[in-house]
Amino acid sequence: MKKIIATMAIGACLCSCGGSREEVYKDPSATVKDRVEDLLKRMTLEEKVGQMNQFVGVEHIKANSAVMTEDELRNNTANAFYPGFTEKDIEKWTEEGLIGSFLHVLTIEEANYLQSLAMKSRLQIPIIFGIDAIHGNANAPDNTVYPTNINLACSFDTLMAYKIARQTAREMRAMNMHWTFNPNVEVARDARWGRVGETYGEDPYLVTLLGVQSVKGYQGNLNGSEDVLACIKHFVGGSEPINGTNGSPTDLSERTLREVFFPPFEAGVKAGAMSLMTAHNELNGIPCHSNEWLMQDVLRSEWKFPGFVVSDWMDIEHIHDLHATAENLKEAFYQSIMGGIDMHMHGIHWNEMVVELVKEGRIPESRIDESVRRILDIKFRLGIFEQPYADEARTTQVRLCDEHRVTALEAARNGIVLLKNDGVLPLSHSKYKRIMVTGINADDQNILGDWSAPAKDENVTTILEGLKMISPDTQFDFVDQGWDPRNMDPKKVFEAAARARTADLNIVVAGEYMMRFRWNDRTDGEDTDRSDLDLVGLQNELIEKVAASGKPTILILVNGRPLGVWAAENLSAIIEAWAPGMYGGQAVAEILYGKVNPSAKLAVTIPHSVGQLQMIYNHKPSQYFHPYVAGKPNKPLYPFGYGLSYTTYKYGDLKLMQKEIGTDGAVDVSVKVTNTGDRDGVEIVQLYIRDKFSSVTRPVKELKDFARVSLKAGESKVVNFRITPDKLAFYDKKMKKVVEPGEFIVMVGASSNDKDLLTETFTVR
Ligand code: BGC
Repeated sequence: MKKIIATMAIGACLCSCGGSREEVYKDPSATVKDRVEDLLKRMTLEEKVGQMNQFVGVEHIKANSAVMTEDELRNNTANAFYPGFTEKDIEKWTEEGLIGSFLHVLTIEEANYLQSLAMKSRLQIPIIFGIDAIHGNANAPDNTVYPTNINLACSFDTLMAYKIARQTAREMRAMNMHWTFNPNVEVARDARWGRVGETYGEDPYLVTLLGVQSVKGYQGNLNGSEDVLACIKHFVGGSEPINGTNGSPTDLSERTLREVFFPPFEAGVKAGAMSLMTAHNELNGIPCHSNEWLMQDVLRSEWKFPGFVVSDWMDIEHIHDLHATAENLKEAFYQSIMGGIDMHMHGIHWNEMVVELVKEGRIPESRIDESVRRILDIKFRLGIFEQPYADEARTTQVRLCDEHRVTALEAARNGIVLLKNDGVLPLSHSKYKRIMVTGINADDQNILGDWSAPAKDENVTTILEGLKMISPDTQFDFVDQGWDPRNMDPKKVFEAAARARTADLNIVVAGEYMMRFRWNDRTDGEDTDRSDLDLVGLQNELIEKVAASGKPTILILVNGRPLGVWAAENLSAIIEAWAPGMYGGQAVAEILYGKVNPSAKLAVTIPHSVGQLQMIYNHKPSQYFHPYVAGKPNKPLYPFGYGLSYTTYKYGDLKLMQKEIGTDGAVDVSVKVTNTGDRDGVEIVQLYIRDKFSSVTRPVKELKDFARVSLKAGESKVVNFRITPDKLAFYDKKMKKVVEPGEFIVMVGASSNDKDLLTETFTVR
């Protein structure tokens, strides 16, 4: 694992890559197909089954073994540990060509080292390294940390999604990572679920566009040394779990699946995504990991997916030990492979049991060959055979380079949502000379969000640091509340309340805790679901007491899931920053002081309370026929598509060029948007439609297009959209996709809220 190994090994690989006539698979000038077939016929059954298996990196295991008891390791499936199997065994298997992939390898040194072991194997098939590079390759230290997906979604910026994915791919390859377990294209429909922040929100159309651009950005042409394999996940339905908890059952009609959950996956396949991860949950009584209908009928037969399917963490095991639809582990492996899984994440029993299943004649070897072909195809395409190592001398030239840092800042500026402003913002440097800053997220790396490792201080600008940077002459009085919402000190809350009274203005930075290196302390993120949407710990009390000072109080939220927030009416301003990434603190401060005019709009509905769930904007007409008799109204705290700016926009002249079309016709729409304020800005113009009467019920509105429009103060622009038949179509009673004749309502405006929308109608004859 020394530098020297990588450098020597680069040379070693080049010697063996020329290939001889017989070894077509080593010949880079041969077609990928020929190389795959040549290699496949040289492989033993054991080697083939090994290609279908994944392991976690040895350093990950060592790190866990160092801090956990054996019992903890055995019983904690989140931290890989293979009872009776040591790091030495993993290394030996790698040298024997019995492992196809690793995950949770976090350094270039370890990746190059493990690869050097694979290069000692009989056929020298390189390892494909997979990693959860969800918003940048943030899980591994010293990479650019972009804002999390929900923040990106609120920018409605599809070009930015592409750019971030492209840059992430470059940083990954620079450390010998080839495969990201992203984009997560689940449509988030339950705010209790801890993974909302990992998604692009609740709207299938927005999720689809951002997912497609991410796939394209990661993969490029899937043949260059800067391309990585994308993985669309998790297939499917886990984002609407029956009780809000990760991996709990989902019971979804085929209609809902096809209308809401499938479109981003189908589009991802069409965009060329070559890997897909199945979901933890069971779907309508069948675990996704053994679900033939999903993996064979829909994915392979209908969508013609040519890539490979990887299981999620321990989920094949769970077919047996959780869902109990397989009597033992071997049967679970059988069901998963015959269901359509190609690669197993992760563990020691796969190799032996799957080989047995083939020898017993239960799984045809041709079925194994199918999976191995798909996996080898990607390894060849990505050029890993020719370039199995990354250059340790060059890695830091790419990772965290200036261009990528600039993107991280720009993305954060675009994704932070201004939810409330009574006029206090943008802050005046001269009016507020003394500002009290407090709250768990004021001066903490938690702004990096889930799927991030702790970063070097110089690579993160916390919110407090951002404030000091943007307003150097202001006196910021910081009352530290620690990072842990569950362990706040009441004395510190009182101290903040007291100091608030002597300040000119107060800023409370509250929210959730998301950093996964403190797995059990988080309140948001993977496996961190909630039965309420309130702020945890003494945070409500802190806000209440600070606001009671009578001084203007601003709340900044750093979180992943929507939070119903205490007494929003008592605060002067509220900013939803989500997890804005490494320069999130600077971006927040720039928005507070008006250096940046906020433009983001909510990609998820923010409910008042958990009791209102399910709360989504694109619900069916009868959802609120009867109001709640007590408690909160049936309106959200903030609706989908909502977000404020420091300027104002006026919408007018909504025109439809066609008032009548045939079922295959299109409608051209135009609207005039004017910046009526005195600041330049970017407005996210949204177009929704509703099918007025239809043979099956349709949502009250559905986003069908949007545009990010920059407008100088006083400027007007005409924004054009085109409503094509695919945007009007839905599944009829026979589950046939049709455009039905009748009247459609077109709504264009600044949010999904009716009062923000201009309407027009057209008719399909
Ligand atoms: C998550 C996946 C992730 C995998 C590997 C699982 O627990 O559900 O999204 O890719 O772990 O880290």
